[in-house]
Amino acid sequence: MKKNILITGGAGFIGSHVVRRFVNRYPDYQIINLDALTYAGNLENLKDLESADNYTFRKCDITDIGAVESLFKEFKIHSIIHLAAESHVDRSITNPIDFVMTNVVGTVILLNAFKQFGEVSEGRFYHVSTDEVYGTLGDDGKFTESTPYDPNSPYSASKASSDHFVRAYHETFKLPMVISNCSNNYGSHQFPEKLIPLMIHNIKNSKPLPVYGKGDNIRDWLWVEDHASAIDVIFHEGRLGETYNIGGNNEWKNLDLVHKLCEIMDRKLGRPEGKSAELITFVTDRAGHDFRYAIDASKLENELKWSPSVAFDQGFEKTIDWYLENEAWLDGVTSGAYQSYYSQLYDHR
Ligand code: NAD
Ligand code: DAU
Repeated sequence: MKKNILITGGAGFIGSHVVRRFVNRYPDYQIINLDALTYAGNLENLKDLESADNYTFRKCDITDIGAVESLFKEFKIHSIIHLAAESHVDRSITNPIDFVMTNVVGTVILLNAFKQFGEVSEGRFYHVSTDEVYGTLGDDGKFTESTPYDPNSPYSASKASSDHFVRAYHETFKLPMVISNCSNNYGSHQFPEKLIPLMIHNIKNSKPLPVYGKGDNIRDWLWVEDHASAIDVIFHEGRLGETYNIGGNNEWKNLDLVHKLCEIMDRKLGRPEGKSAELITFVTDRAGHDFRYAIDASKLENELKWSPSVAFDQGFEKTIDWYLENEAWLDGVTSGAYQSYYSQLYDHR
């Protein structure tokens, strides 16, 4: 009998990489991808898997208790890898309620369904979370698993809250769970509301490159497929009840990263050196903008022998190439609703 592994949010950026990895590597799992297909979910991301025997897609909103319970009655769920979420900090500032609904209420609905109908004596509930729950760092130090939660944005507050519910279900109901908190991911299929694909799209179209504040904020960037490999190892070998931090050990100041991107794009687009950088425009800062994130991933590295496989230079070039080679994907996701989102957020900044 195949084990039914439910992956939520599998049509999104990270989820599609996780689904592909699990479908290709684990023929003994039936991978059930549950996704509401919001603006961020796109079945084009998984077209290559449509005919795989061990892959099933169900369109379902995790805030719909009835629909979630029906799915759990249809499939005996062995384990869950929960990625479905509202994931963009700027959207959480303009519309926090959506974040409470999906990230908090939706997560509790899934926990309840798993507790009631899942194979809790054998499987596990894996919550994929973010380093943003720890708040912000100054110039020094890194987040460890024992850093106190101190979320600053409605997004990170909703993810912190969902982490707490997962822990609470473990303590109160002995629900088997594991949580990981990861830094910024980059790679193919990321929705161009996030820094890197947004800048690639704008450079391509010679549009202004909106850098928030002075561009001094620092993020730690990890290749999305290395996040997927960490999720794989934590899902299979992580100790129940534990949290694991995942990071790339690869800190970049936003402005430096945008300059690097401009240099590579000039070369790839055959533009004179320095041309794309002329598009850089400093805009009003994000409200409550966390200054710096940095991850100490030594627990994961030492305990589960995971480390990132791709050097940043290599992963970054591959990422840029993917967006340039997949013009139709980028054009598809930036038509329609994206235009009004973009105007609302950037026109008067
Ligand atoms: P994404 O926005 O690209 O994808 C989210 C997916 O969830 C989409 O497919 C969307 O359709 C689906 N979804 C949203 N609301 C839903 C609902 N109510 N019911 C069912 N499906 C719903 O997000 P991402 O960047 O791939 O992030 C995935 C997970 O990883 C999130 O939980 C996020 O908090 C976490 N995370 C992201 C990063 C990052 O850098 N992107 C880093 C660390 C952790
Ligand atoms: O750290 C993990 C988190 O990383 C994830 O939990 C989130 O889901 C993910 O969206 C990401 O959050 P950030 O806010 O760090 O990512 P974003 O790509 O939105 O922004 C990266 C940095 O770039 C941040 O400091 C804000 C800045 N920025 C972003 C945009 C979209 C700009 O300067 N200009 C922009 O237009």
